[in-house]
Amino acid sequence: MAKILITGANGQLGSELAAELRMIYGTENVITSDIAGSRHSSDGPHEYLDVLDLKAFEAMIKRHSVDQIYHLAALLSATAEKNIQLGWDLNVNGLLNVLNLSRDLKIRKVFWPSSIAVFGPDAQKILTPQNSPCNPATVYGISKVAGEQWCAYYHRKFGLDVRSVRYPGLIGYKSLPGGGTTDYAVDIYHKAIAGETFSCFLEEESALPMMYMSDAVKATIDLMNAPSEHLSVRTSYNISAMSFTPAEIARSIRKRVPGFSVEFDPDYRQEIAASWPDSIDDSSARTDWNWQQQYDLDAMTDEILDQLPLMIQRMNS
Ligand code: SER
Repeated sequence: MAKILITGANGQLGSELAAELRMIYGTENVITSDIAGSRHSSDGPHEYLDVLDLKAFEAMIKRHSVDQIYHLAALLSATAEKNIQLGWDLNVNGLLNVLNLSRDLKIRKVFWPSSIAVFGPDAQKILTPQNSPCNPATVYGISKVAGEQWCAYYHRKFGLDVRSVRYPGLIGYKSLPGGGTTDYAVDIYHKAIAGETFSCFLEEESALPMMYMSDAVKATIDLMNAPSEHLSVRTSYNISAMSFTPAEIARSIRKRVPGFSVEFDPDYRQEIAASWPDSIDDSSARTDWNWQQQYDLDAMTDEILDQLPLMIQRMNS
């Protein structure tokens, strides 16, 4: 039976991925960890971990006989622009700790998330191919390009089975926005449900690749279950599900919440969004490990508008 450690597990992806992995592998076989938020969890084994503390990290892997790591601890794009040094330290040196410990302690499989942020203004904007130039304009993007190269290097040089996808913006309703440029599309549903006007920090027609959280969890698990010999990409796979602008998500919400209004007040995050692709070509992921999404924009909107009020009610009761 697998013994899995998730770092950064209190984040948007981590909390939903942990729940799914616990369903598959058993609660006790998935150890969640984070530096922020609660130090304890009633959902299963959970520990405090600073991934930059190599000794504590090593001790935790040994204590739990971990054989797979999902390394999610990172700063997102907008937060990293505000804290360049921590963005680099956490996103790159944290990953190097994972790669070195995984090599030395014979970890069987590692998952590490990359991002559409590896692409910069010189990449093809529409249906950006897998092998487009990666010349990012952000601290976050620089850290993800470096991370992808480190993953490919450790696979080539040490045979480490490290796997990765370039997530688009991930939209879920179970946790709050976490400092990403794409997180306006999380916040917008909260405002729609509260009956408030949403103030958008991106321009009305700024298109970005996006994905519903349950598809992101599915992609992660599908990739980790794929036979190693089928994987032709060891930097990170492009994956895509949908692409929309703030105007389009507002229209999708208005089908269910007719009076919903949005104002546009773009800030520094608009420049980040403008440097990223509008949409992604993910044919390598579809060919190599049969990637296929389940949700489009309206299906995601329907589910979030159904589920979010129930979740808020549960939290308040
Ligand atoms: N969702 C991320 C961000 O906006 C991009 O990978 O930072």
